[in-house]
Amino acid sequence: METILSGLRAAAEATRLRLLLLCARGELTVSELTDILGQSQPRVSRHLKLLCDAGLLDRFREGTWVFYRLSERGRAAELAKRVCASVPADDPTVMLDNARLETVKRQRAETANAYFRANAEEWHRIRSLHIDEREVEAAIVEVLSGRKVRDLLDLGTGTGRILEIFGPQIEHAVGIDISREMLAVARVNLERAALRNCTIRQGDIYQLPLPSASFDAAIFHQVLHYADRPSLAIAEAARMLRPQGRLVIVDFAPHALEFLRDEQAHRHLGFADAEITQWCRDAGLVPEPVRHLLGQPLTVSIWVAWRRSETDAIEPSFPREAMS
Ligand SMILES: C[S@@+](CC[C@H](N)C(=O)[O-])C[C@H]1O[C@@H](n2cnc3c(N)ncnc32)[C@H](O)[C@@H]1O
Repeated sequence: METILSGLRAAAEATRLRLLLLCARGELTVSELTDILGQSQPRVSRHLKLLCDAGLLDRFREGTWVFYRLSERGRAAELAKRVCASVPADDPTVMLDNARLETVKRQRAETANAYFRANAEEWHRIRSLHIDEREVEAAIVEVLSGRKVRDLLDLGTGTGRILEIFGPQIEHAVGIDISREMLAVARVNLERAALRNCTIRQGDIYQLPLPSASFDAAIFHQVLHYADRPSLAIAEAARMLRPQGRLVIVDFAPHALEFLRDEQAHRHLGFADAEITQWCRDAGLVPEPVRHLLGQPLTVSIWVAWRRSETDAIEPSFPREAMS
């Protein structure tokens, strides 16, 4: 009862209600909210703090920036959603706020697109070296089909492509990337696709800012070749999985294209199956047979491994024949 009362008290003020409505439509920084509301930053910050304290908003940091969005879980989150849904969309103040929000989003999209355009040519060049991306994406979808995936984690999410593919089919997804520029592009793409169940966070794949065992699937799509410690990244991803949860790694098979190292900062010229499989085992996962999507000159491999549940029998670490 106290949660509901403090939530209602926090929402019962004009500026705070406007803040709630705006944050229900996307992740926004204090300065964006200040621009939209036309109020001073200290005032807006004070209101935001009250809304966060009451559990109606979530606050999270991305480098030096702080974002706010409507809370996702718990009773206060439920209340926040109901309060927002009860405000008529044709209220003149709400309409004006929404029009200003659209301007903020347009400005964001322009900045993100400029970054994307600056890099697009290089990415296109790499894509042309392996089979059509749509075939790779279809194979990833197939790998996870028939599995109950409620929560999905996309590691090194980049432009958020994997979230766009899986977002419509799952309950909740989180994309993590270290690059703020990439996250800006992802944010625009997710907003365009209206995927409110997908969130993105700045973070390092070696030290994920997330609780253990909270996802049914985790994906590294074309990320590990940048990693200087792929085995540690795999161990950290394994930590995220619930029992029976699946780790999907999509990357190149070993190749000899040195220019990818020199010009594209690839640390690894692909990975051998035995290498990835062993790292998965070391992380306590059970590997499945590997798939190869042959391309010229790059072959894309898909490695899948799953976390056994506590009650599963422990697999012997040497072949069964050796036991008899
Ligand atoms: C080639 S992009 C792939 C993006 C996305 N997975 C896709 O396939 O469209 C690699 C991404 O990994 C991210 N990345 C590299 N090292 C990282 C790290 N240590 N932690 C988090 N993200 C990282 C990069 O910023 C980049 O966005």
